[in-house]
Amino acid sequence: MKTQVGIIGGGPSGLLLSQILHLQGIESVVLERQSRDYVLGRIRAGVLEQGTVEMLRDAHVGDRMDREGLVHDGFHMAFGGQIKRIDLEGLTGGKTVMVYGQTEVTRDLYDARDQIGGVVIDEADDVTPHDIDTDSPYLTFHREGNAERLGCDFIAACDGFHGVGRQSMPKDVLKIYERVYPFGWLGVLSETRPVDEELIYANHERGFALCSMRSPKLSRYYVQCALDEDLNEWSDDRFWEELKLRLPEDAAARLETGPSIEKSIAPLRSFVAEPMSHGRMFLAGDAAHIVPPTGAKGLNLAASDVYYLSRALIEQYKTGDESRLRDYSKTALSRVWKAERFSWSMTMLMHKFPDQGEFGAKMQQAELDYLTSSSAAMTAMAENYVGLPF
Ligand code: APR
Ligand code: PHB
Repeated sequence: MKTQVGIIGGGPSGLLLSQILHLQGIESVVLERQSRDYVLGRIRAGVLEQGTVEMLRDAHVGDRMDREGLVHDGFHMAFGGQIKRIDLEGLTGGKTVMVYGQTEVTRDLYDARDQIGGVVIDEADDVTPHDIDTDSPYLTFHREGNAERLGCDFIAACDGFHGVGRQSMPKDVLKIYERVYPFGWLGVLSETRPVDEELIYANHERGFALCSMRSPKLSRYYVQCALDEDLNEWSDDRFWEELKLRLPEDAAARLETGPSIEKSIAPLRSFVAEPMSHGRMFLAGDAAHIVPPTGAKGLNLAASDVYYLSRALIEQYKTGDESRLRDYSKTALSRVWKAERFSWSMTMLMHKFPDQGEFGAKMQQAELDYLTSSSAAMTAMAENYVGLPF
């Protein structure tokens, strides 16, 4: 097989890249290790920045998002018995975010790829990049036990944190920056009415809590938990009790509870791999970086990588100018680090750290108090939350 761009990974990064390239007349093949049911069964975050929303619309995958997604023009921060609103729209000159689950984004992307005849090979085993530092790279893989080879001009490794792309870069060119946080998030999805029309991020002495949603009838809640927490010890009742303890009184009083339809624990990590390219292979999304979920930046950062990479590939195919491709890593990393900084600072501000002590807790309270009373500080928060420009 031959194509122009060989894409490893059929998550949101790989699918969006192949869709954008297709609309510009550039061929690609997506190789995905898992089955489609598996990919569409993963529950991930659900807040899209305005730039991501616009990219999805431009890629002709925005219709259902525009019908079913919830536009949010603010969110709440609860701490020390108070609850304060961050007016995203007012503070950013009219920008908002869209609450629409990543699982739905992925489903819409698969539908769009199918509709216009995009090639996505599911259950591709042992995908391996070769000759990435030559002019004719290729990918090998197994499909139903048969060995296959995909020749291409460029490889996009959109294969997530555990992918093969980053791991095939020479060890001496790759530098890893990483921080693992000493807690996790216990998340519950339930068919209940969200406790509020907007998201609530809560800093509490028992630990962080977050009230989010997927629709007016589907809630997504999280509580900070220990890293070695045993999921079996968390009955639904225990989860609801713990969540109520961490929320402002009136929110706790109106919280609608019900059976969970999904419950899981996720670790929190900050991770960046530099550079994001080697020869003719380019990393995008979780393959190159991970953010803790506190700022809801994971998918949005994947989208901005895809924006830079697609623009660079389009320019190379249309004009032969490779300068944007050469600069891709530098361009993408400059935005990646800013989103890493924001996600890290939100994480540090909102969670209870094992070693923070009374002084650390006071510092968080003072920062939250400042953040929610200074228009300069609130503007900086809002500007980052709706997403920095790309
Ligand atoms: N071969 C083929 N496919 C692979 C391989 C491999 N060796 N390794 C991983 N994959 C696939 C995974 O099965 C997955 O479907 O690559 C895909 C990567 O998708 P994601 O992990 O969703 O990463 P990405 O598309 O970059 O999306 C970033 O996902 O994790 C969230 O918070 C993150 O929202 C962000 C988004
Ligand atoms: C979610 O809805 O899953 C969600 C929302 C906001 C975050 C993280 C996760 O910051």
